[in-house]
Amino acid sequence: MPVMSERKKKHHIDYTDKKVRQEVLVRQRRELWSPEQVRSLAKHFRLRPGMHMLDCGCGLGYAMQTWGPYVMPGGRLTGLDPVPDLLNKARRNLDRDRLGKAAGFVQGDIRDMPFDDGTFDITIAHVVFCHLAEQKQALDEMIRVTKPGGCVAVFDNAVSGGPQGGWSSIHKPTVESELFDLEMGLRALEGIRRLGQGDFRVGCYLPLWMEARGLEDVDVRCNDRVRWVAPPYRSAAQQTDWSNTRERIRARITRPRPERVYYKQLRAGGADEKSIRRMQNRNRRSFERLRKSARNRTLAYAWSSQFWCIWGFCPEGGQRTKPWGKKT
Ligand SMILES: C[S@@+](CC[C@H](N)C(=O)[O-])C[C@H]1O[C@@H](n2cnc3c(N)ncnc32)[C@H](O)[C@@H]1O
Repeated sequence: MPVMSERKKKHHIDYTDKKVRQEVLVRQRRELWSPEQVRSLAKHFRLRPGMHMLDCGCGLGYAMQTWGPYVMPGGRLTGLDPVPDLLNKARRNLDRDRLGKAAGFVQGDIRDMPFDDGTFDITIAHVVFCHLAEQKQALDEMIRVTKPGGCVAVFDNAVSGGPQGGWSSIHKPTVESELFDLEMGLRALEGIRRLGQGDFRVGCYLPLWMEARGLEDVDVRCNDRVRWVAPPYRSAAQQTDWSNTRERIRARITRPRPERVYYKQLRAGGADEKSIRRMQNRNRRSFERLRKSARNRTLAYAWSSQFWCIWGFCPEGGQRTKPWGKKT
């Protein structure tokens, strides 16, 4: 096996390494919601000191860390996740933020949670639904464990296919190339769904589903952060983004999914081999261009993801759920 040079070793980031993946995850969260929008959502959720919050699929505890302070003092936080290692890390993160004393952690599954009906004032799921095949079941469980009058809030992808909103100095888009990207984007989404790996359009359905399940005052917001950098990368936000981008390039993280997985999804979504080869070649060329322009400090881009927050309130008393209608 070739020995890795010292220089490479220093910069090498192994994206398959769990710790790195988790770091990338945390950074991605901060790229979604600005502090102003976090505050504004806390108002929309009607958060007050003393409330009990459940974070379903809590991972490293981002939602508890972000909205937990709005239920303090006197509030309680419960994080649920099937992965014990993540629960331990979330506990450490909350301790660091001085929220540890108010927090408890439970190993479990959002589709069948070990809590009594009407336990929580607010129930959150942040980037969990897109990974589930049984999304409606998860929503029903969230509603079940929420108190009458309590809030159910789901944060998730609302990807409608194709390139996400944005522009980059390394691409000169033509109608033809945009149409190709759109087709491949839709095929990847369809592949993910067919492989039972979830559905990244789920954000678009959730307002209708919440309404159909009898939640009140259902409302939606889109994430407000637009990541943009342009030379000479002056502001603090740009410098952070610029350094994250260079780190990803060094680690060859050009897209969130490893390529092997991505091409499998494209195939499952019905893409033919010729298109997949074209995509591979394009990706290779784009990556080289990206690397070169990052090295020359000419890279510029503006990019936003299609990510929504959808929330609603359980009615005070009364029957909350009815059978799913055919159209929902
Ligand atoms: C993309 S991560 C999001 C973590 C965290 N909510 C955040 O936003 O940083 C998805 C999380 O969902 C958890 N998860 C996966 N399947 C689940 C299930 N059936 N029930 C509950 N959590 C689940 C994973 O363990 C992981 O922590």
